[in-house]
Formats: sequence, structure tokens, C-alpha cells
Amino acid sequence: LIEAVGAREILDSRGNPTVEVEVLLDDGIVQRAAVPSGASTGAFEAYELRDGDKSRYGGKGVLKAVEAVIDELGPAIEGVEASEQRIIDEILIEVDGTDNKKRVGANAILGVSLAVAKAAADSADLPLFRYLGGPNAHLLPVPLFNVINGGEHADNGIDMQEFFLAPIGADTYSESLRWGVETYHVLRSELKAAGYATGLGDEGGFAPDLPSNREGLDFLLKAIEKAGFTPGTDIAVGLDVAATEFFNDGVYRLDNKDWTGPELIEYYVGLVNDYPIVTIEDALAEDDWAGWKLLTDQLGSKVQLVGDDLFVTNPERLAEGIRRGVGNSLLVKVNQIGTLSETFDAVSLAQRSGYTAMLSHRSGETEDTTIADLVVATNSGQIKTGAPARSERVAKYNQLLRIEEELGDAGEFAGRSAFPRFRG
Ligand code: PGA
Ligand code: ZN
Repeated sequence: LIEAVGAREILDSRGNPTVEVEVLLDDGIVQRAAVPSGASTGAFEAYELRDGDKSRYGGKGVLKAVEAVIDELGPAIEGVEASEQRIIDEILIEVDGTDNKKRVGANAILGVSLAVAKAAADSADLPLFRYLGGPNAHLLPVPLFNVINGGEHADNGIDMQEFFLAPIGADTYSESLRWGVETYHVLRSELKAAGYATGLGDEGGFAPDLPSNREGLDFLLKAIEKAGFTPGTDIAVGLDVAATEFFNDGVYRLDNKDWTGPELIEYYVGLVNDYPIVTIEDALAEDDWAGWKLLTDQLGSKVQLVGDDLFVTNPERLAEGIRRGVGNSLLVKVNQIGTLSETFDAVSLAQRSGYTAMLSHRSGETEDTTIADLVVATNSGQIKTGAPARSERVAKYNQLLRIEEELGDAGEFAGRSAFPRFRG
């Protein structure tokens, strides 16, 4: 039974305040969870409550959310069995009382939801992935390493936000991790040799001032080859365009040019022909449903088209997308929706509808590694949690090494089959 719930304000990887929650059970178990925070957030995400008091952290303090945990959310679930996750999440949603968790904040609610799950797992003496996923949780994900950072995550001129390495051809998770890391280091040397800065962006990728987006893909391919791998077979590439960020009044602004939706789609078709791209996220803006439909009709059979700002891990937005035949993959961010139960609902709707699901960090992260367990619990087979650098990113990749070890022979690496392109 839940005996007490506490909360505090801690810092995330960008030096901004965020919520940490601790749950104490009557058997003496204590577990904590910390909440991440985005920069290129979707308009339809659950509400992140910040104090707005300019005298503290430039208004970004989260003391109100902390207070809501201590005064309202905690007391509402005290005495409830910690393993009753769905009941607890429903209580949290009811206490808030709004449809986007605006009153007490999705950051307050999520902290409690995750800490409860961790405490229940610990109390059952199970690893979190096993507790959340049950006896069939066994699939180790392909890690998508965001090795070049642009957009809102870096102060360079690259429009696209994320350039991924996807080591799909490895035999195991740990081998895919090594391949990604080796290529990441070669990429650094290549950028340096070409006279570019090798400072890091928010997600641990390099943030060079490249002249175009294609140049970013060229560097990935060069690095893959120089590291001794075959592009496409061993290591594929991917993009998170985060197109909402450069969409205004019906016009996309990319590479210093204006594009209509259909023009941009033609540009993507060209990229897919020229590079071994297995996944493109947010290729179009969050409210460009017509563009998304056209994109999916053109590229959906070849490429994974991931909806991040489009779906915001929201089962209702996803259902709308499925109805319209838009996208073929769900990006899963726990803080976009605010409870673990609703996250599971979104993932299971995706999986039942033939959509893939990719677990994801946020650009503002903490040392919390819950998403590593969640990707195995859901057998989703794909995770993006930054470059293999910066401890808040590496913490998740390291947790997956522990899970791989724990699973032993029962574990299976998702590899190529994680992506629609190889599913036939
Ligand atoms: P965010 O970016 O965490 O800043 O929203 C991640 C993403 O767009 O996938
Ligand atoms: Zn995204």
C-alpha cells in the first residue's frame, strides 16, 4: 500500500527545474522518478506547469507542481495498492479535473505515476521492465542515435532537428550500441577534419554549422563507411525533421527556401532515393493533416513515418491519424500524455493498428531511466535517447545493457524487423 508521496524540485540536463517524486510503501520500499521536458513541444501535449515567477529560474520553477504532488495527488492515492496502476492513474487524472492536465500539471502527475510503478516493481521484487511488461517482455530495441543536432536543440543553422544512426544489422543490442558509438567517434573526426565545430547539442549530438540538411546525411554516410560499416545494411539513417518548428502560414522554410507541403514531400522522396533512410519523424507540421496523408501515400510503404508533435502520445490523436491513414509509427513520450496507463493505451493502439512505436526521451532529461524499461516492457523494438554522450542520454543506453544481461537467452534484438521497410 502507498503510505506517503513526496516531491522536490531538481534540475534537468539543460539546467532547468523539473519535478522529482518519491513514493513510500508500507513495506518500507522507497522509489523515485524524475520528469523530462521538451523544447520543440507539440501544441497538443499535456500541460507542463511552471511557476511563472520571474524571480526564480526565469519563471521556470516547478514549486506549484511539487506542491500539488504533496498536497493533492499524494493524499488522494495514499492507502491504495501500488500495483493498481490504472486505478491510481485515474485518480490522478480526476484530481486534476481538466482534459490536458492543466490544473496540477502533467509534470506533477507523471512524476507520481512513474514513481508508483517503480515502487510496485521493487515491492514485487521484479525488474521494472518485467513488472510492466509481464513474462513476454523480451525485445531489445534498435537504438536510434541522434548524432547531429539542429533545430531547437542547437544554435547552428541546420533546420532539421535530429540526424540518426540506426545500427539495424547488429546481432545484439550491445553490438548495435558499440557500432553506434564507434561511428559517432569517427563522425567527430570527420567533422573536425572538415573544419566544423564539434561541440554538442542538447541531445549529445554534434552541432556543426552545416550549409544544408543533405550535408548532414552525407556526413553520416561518410562516418558509417569510415568506421567500417555498410550504410543501409549495417547502419541505416533516419531524421526527425520537427517540421512544425519551421512551418508558418502554410509555408515550410527549409534550406533558406519556401516550400509548400507537396514540394517538401518531393524533396523527401529524393532523400529516400539517395540515402538509406528507414525512419522520418515529423516530416510535416502537427496540423498539416492533408500533407501527412499525401506523404503517407507516397512514402508509407518504404519508410517509417513517425508522428511526434502530430500524435503527442495521445490515444485520441493517434486514433484520428489511423482513421485518416496518416503516418505509420507513433513516437512515445511519457510526459506528452502524463500517465503510464495512457502511455500503454497509446502504444497498444499503435501495435493493434499495424503502427510501430518508438520510445523517446525529451531534449531536457534527467538520470531517470524508466523509458529503457518501458521499451522492453512493450516489445516496441526502437528507442531514441540521444547520442551516446552526456550522462542523461547514456544512462538509458546503459540501463538497456543491464536489461540485456538480465534477459540472457530470453532476450531478442529487434534489428531490421523493427522497421516497416524490412517487414515486407
Ligand atoms: P523535444 O524534442 O524533447 O525538444 O520536444 C524531441 C523530439 O522532437 O523528438
Ligand atoms: Zn520529434
